[in-house]
Amino acid sequence: MAEMVTYALREGVAVITVNNLPVNMLNRAVRAGLIAALERLADDNLARAAVLICKGRTFPAGADIRDFDAPDQAPHLPEVCNAIEASPKPIIACLHGTALGGGYELALACHGRLAVPGTRVGFPEVNLGVLPSAGGTQRLPRLVSIESALALLLGGSPVDVSAEPGAGFVDGLVEGDLLSAGIAHAQALATADLVPTRAKRQTFEGAFNYQQVVATARETHAGAPTRAPAAILDCVEAALLLPFDAGLDLERDLFRELRDTDEAKALRHGFLATREATKPPKGLPEPRGIHSVALVSGGMSGAGIAVACLDAGYTVQILERDGDTAQSVEAAVGDIYQRAISRGRLSATSRDDRLSRLSSVVGVEAVAEADFVIEAAPEDAEVKSGILQEISAFAKPDAIIVTNTSHLDIDELAEPSGRASNIIGIHFYPPAHVHKLVEVVIGTVTSPLTEATGFAVATALRKSPVRVSSSEGYIGNRVHDAYREAADRAVMAGASLSAVDAAMRDFGFKTGPYESIDREGLELAHTRQRRAEAQGVAPRIKLIDALIRAGRTGQRAGRGFYSYKQDPIEAHEDEEVTAILWAERGRLNMEARSLAPKDIQTDCLLAMMNEGAKLLDEGIAERAGDIDVVMLLGFGFPRYKGGPMKAAELAGLLPMLRELEKRAESDPFWTPAGALREAVKNGNRFSGVL
Ligand code: COA
Repeated sequence: MAEMVTYALREGVAVITVNNLPVNMLNRAVRAGLIAALERLADDNLARAAVLICKGRTFPAGADIRDFDAPDQAPHLPEVCNAIEASPKPIIACLHGTALGGGYELALACHGRLAVPGTRVGFPEVNLGVLPSAGGTQRLPRLVSIESALALLLGGSPVDVSAEPGAGFVDGLVEGDLLSAGIAHAQALATADLVPTRAKRQTFEGAFNYQQVVATARETHAGAPTRAPAAILDCVEAALLLPFDAGLDLERDLFRELRDTDEAKALRHGFLATREATKPPKGLPEPRGIHSVALVSGGMSGAGIAVACLDAGYTVQILERDGDTAQSVEAAVGDIYQRAISRGRLSATSRDDRLSRLSSVVGVEAVAEADFVIEAAPEDAEVKSGILQEISAFAKPDAIIVTNTSHLDIDELAEPSGRASNIIGIHFYPPAHVHKLVEVVIGTVTSPLTEATGFAVATALRKSPVRVSSSEGYIGNRVHDAYREAADRAVMAGASLSAVDAAMRDFGFKTGPYESIDREGLELAHTRQRRAEAQGVAPRIKLIDALIRAGRTGQRAGRGFYSYKQDPIEAHEDEEVTAILWAERGRLNMEARSLAPKDIQTDCLLAMMNEGAKLLDEGIAERAGDIDVVMLLGFGFPRYKGGPMKAAELAGLLPMLRELEKRAESDPFWTPAGALREAVKNGNRFSGVL
């Protein structure tokens, strides 16, 4: 293995190079290598200064997130940063790519910072429920204004240093060779008086304003779901008020405390599980090269898919049954781009380039020209299966055919086409040009080449693709339906709709289950329910049926689970629904329980996790982490709870199992899944979580 940190001498300057690809993570070997390089620099009579530079695509993107769950290993990053800062020979950081977290902390400890244009710097720690732990909260406010420091530390998103050249995130931008510029800068500093970052106090001169800005930020972040913003603000305030080393100690103590919270564990899991879930499975062949996409019968909802494909650089042809629909879809694509231009997210030239690759035609025969065909008709199994047969009759023999479906079993849809091995499902979440999540649905006979190409195209569309085996409902809708069934059970047991919604908002969802079903309209859930009934697996509680019969189809109709007043929209419970609830309670003769918000939350989490475990039993989902990723990206599950499987793990799988067993005595809905029992035996861990 190549050395992770190398040392070379050039023109009287030590070149210290980090080489830990892909993102130069600051693991123990790199930290030790940096300490060794600093010791060598101190002893090297020929070196008057040094540059710190990185191989590969980026300056270090931070600590290895996996190390957070392992015992601390010396040398720690604060020691490395302190040693850099204490060097009597100046050290210049040469940045490119994304200098994040600990990577940017290294740079802040250096005596100067240069970057190539487009370099992004930032502190993603707040998104992981922690704070920088190697002096970031102490050094950044000494180098930039308090406003800029807080934007970076609390915002969590990296900023492009060339967009804000005067902010002080780096000292200069380098258009030419970064290393040569770094060496020249280091040579110049070698004869100057060095002021280490810790000794700088110029940004503290407006101390009153500094404290005001901190106080305002405290108010803004008062309701944050993790303690990270408050801890960052405490440290930034300490930078002004305490000696530097006391500020560093506070930062380190708070980091250690926050790192071990459930929220931080859940956020780490979300990061790693997303990376794992969205990688194509190992062992697939090289994907087929795709240039042209045909979008068949997408109607207006196909416009989002067309935009995603155009944005990825494909040529797109819209195929509709009639010219009017085809033109409306083209117009809808134009509208989406127009909105992007008016929001400053797209230039007119980029729009024109994209639209020049778009065309439409009447009839399905033109699929013969496409490499990749997406059928996006409404969710009707017969209609979709018929379209797949038509497409198969005309498509190139090696074309990959996609059915865009939210819940239908693609084996059933694809079988009559005679080309099932070329067919794959992709469940786009609307609006398809915005939503990151797609479920990639693999049929029993889908070929590995079709799977590889489906994954490659989904990735090219900048989606987060999660693999799922063909089934009804896939991961997202299965788990979400179980959530709704648990909510219905809470309502049948006596909780009001608004109590359930409030409890789940309090749990961390932006909207409660009844608010969200009213928003999306009840018809989709109703169609799924009817299909489930035909297959003998319908839910016992039939509130949706009763509401639809009463003409209550959702918020758009002004009446669903709630009644709505317009302008501004206000939801109210009403007597008609109360009567429907009582009638259903009577029909089912369900046992009444008294339910506190905590009980409602536990019920809903139990149902989601247990359904997820059933998906593992049935082989529909491969890893528990995949289920979490779908619920985090697609259904608004709170990130700081990590997804239903992780949240259950954090709550303790054994007590969760006991709760299910208790409920299952009177209602088979709660029967624990085998994968949950296994996970309990496995030491509170779903196998294959990561
Ligand atoms: N810890 C552990 N693994 C990390 C990591 C980190 N801080 N940053 C990146 N990785 C891993 C990814 O999991 C991925 O691993 P894989 O190849 O096994 O899948 C690999 O590095 C490449 O990362 P990826 O995200 O696929 O590359 P990218 O070019 O799309 O993005 C970054 C690069 C650095 C922008 C992105 O990875 C990122 O934001 N990382 C998190 C940085 C962070 O939070 N740092 C602070 C930690 S306290």
